[in-house]
Amino acid sequence: MRYVAAIDQGTTSSRFMVFDMGGNIVASAQQEHQQIFPQPGWVEHDPEEIASKVKLVTAEALITKGLLATDIVAIGITNQRETTVVWNKHTGKPYYNAIVWQDTRTEHLVKQLNEQLGHNAWQQKTGLPFATYFSSLKLKWLLDNVDGLQQAAEQGDALFGNMDTWLLWKETGEHKTDVTNASRTQLMHLETLDWDDEILQTLNIPRQMLPQIVPSSGYFGTIQQGAFKGINIMGVLGDQQAALVGQTCFEPGQAKNTYGTGCFMLMNTGEKIVPSTKGLLTTVAYKLGQQPVHYALEGSIAITGSLVQWCRDNLGIIDKSSDIETLAASVPDNGDVYFVPAFSGLYAPYWRADARGVITGLTGYATKAHIARAVLEATAYQTLDVLLAMQADSGITLDALNVDGGMTANNLLMQFQADMVQVPVQVPMVNETTCLGAAYAAGLASGYWKSVDDLKANHQINKRWQPAMQQDLRHHLHLRWQKAIGKSLDWM
Ligand code: G3P
Repeated sequence: MRYVAAIDQGTTSSRFMVFDMGGNIVASAQQEHQQIFPQPGWVEHDPEEIASKVKLVTAEALITKGLLATDIVAIGITNQRETTVVWNKHTGKPYYNAIVWQDTRTEHLVKQLNEQLGHNAWQQKTGLPFATYFSSLKLKWLLDNVDGLQQAAEQGDALFGNMDTWLLWKETGEHKTDVTNASRTQLMHLETLDWDDEILQTLNIPRQMLPQIVPSSGYFGTIQQGAFKGINIMGVLGDQQAALVGQTCFEPGQAKNTYGTGCFMLMNTGEKIVPSTKGLLTTVAYKLGQQPVHYALEGSIAITGSLVQWCRDNLGIIDKSSDIETLAASVPDNGDVYFVPAFSGLYAPYWRADARGVITGLTGYATKAHIARAVLEATAYQTLDVLLAMQADSGITLDALNVDGGMTANNLLMQFQADMVQVPVQVPMVNETTCLGAAYAAGLASGYWKSVDDLKANHQINKRWQPAMQQDLRHHLHLRWQKAIGKSLDWM
């Protein structure tokens, strides 16, 4: 029996999963890494720590199931997108910590570019508004603020990458990225699938520091050392695009919503680039080998699962993340408490870097249980707002919402989500769609799976939540939420 495996380098942890031909998980391991908050709004990761955690989980997963590296046909990589690393190509040492996608230190640059170049001037080319979220301004910040880095980049000594590229380079020595990750840098033109010279010039980013852009499924490189020596990396996808593939949303109009650190809803728009007028992103969905590139509309929400962690780590109202459901279920409703978690400003559909988190509606009646409920409801309201934007932009009404990710284990949230979006919410048998999607990309390129039809045959629904809430209550709750959003937008 042989398998395909995937590395998922996420915002809070790194995982390694091994899949069989039916797309079932055969082995897995996971390790968290440190979140570094040097100042309010700044979020960093240590790229060396991440690389070593990735090594650890790959070994751990095999050992626990008694597998051999030679049982693995090919490996895929999926990753937290946008997070930016720059390293020296001779020493392999990063010049600075990785600047994480949630980091807001470039807020001033967003303002400056909007003023100088016109509001969201690169949205047509890149599909993305000016925001602290994407790699472009993080890279600009590094070039401007790390001593000697601009010169090193001009001399060809410094290399840029997102986590996919960093790990690929560490493992294989290749300096490449896939089209999905490249589409999140805000440096790639959506039509040409190449770095855009005008953007590079404006930000003073030397082209030679950027990786080569290649399809998501295909040969990326061969692992040079360790137990996996000689095994090929055959697929790379940003994690949200990987989940779209893992959910087998290959037809235009199919969509998925992944509940992780944040929440990311992607709708496949086929070979068409669909510009958004409702605050969504236009992005690359995938490019499987030589087949045409597919695009997607995306609604990105920065804070969902990480709000639960924040309640655990910063408020201490729960001991472990899964306790949030029991605490929230101990009260019948939110007691009119609303929590807008705008910790990194608000992403879709608002794109307001200056929004701030608010808890509103507090009275002496409110308890930590009401806060817990407001925390869970925030995820559902944010998803509803994104879904409404998506339906308006695409003209497509979803008949069900495909979901995946850690928070889908939370029944209370999933029922409330179905109540809010008013369509069934359904989760697949293999809920680890991010890893699965990267494994699918690697498996297709290596001939393990023959076509996407094999992948579609693997896809089964495990559980479905039906909408059950009265319309007037739903309407009332959503109105109160929008009022709370208004307060978050009006803080600065
Ligand atoms: O765009 C950010 C996204 O890729 C992060 O995903 O799952 O690590 O929260 P996750």
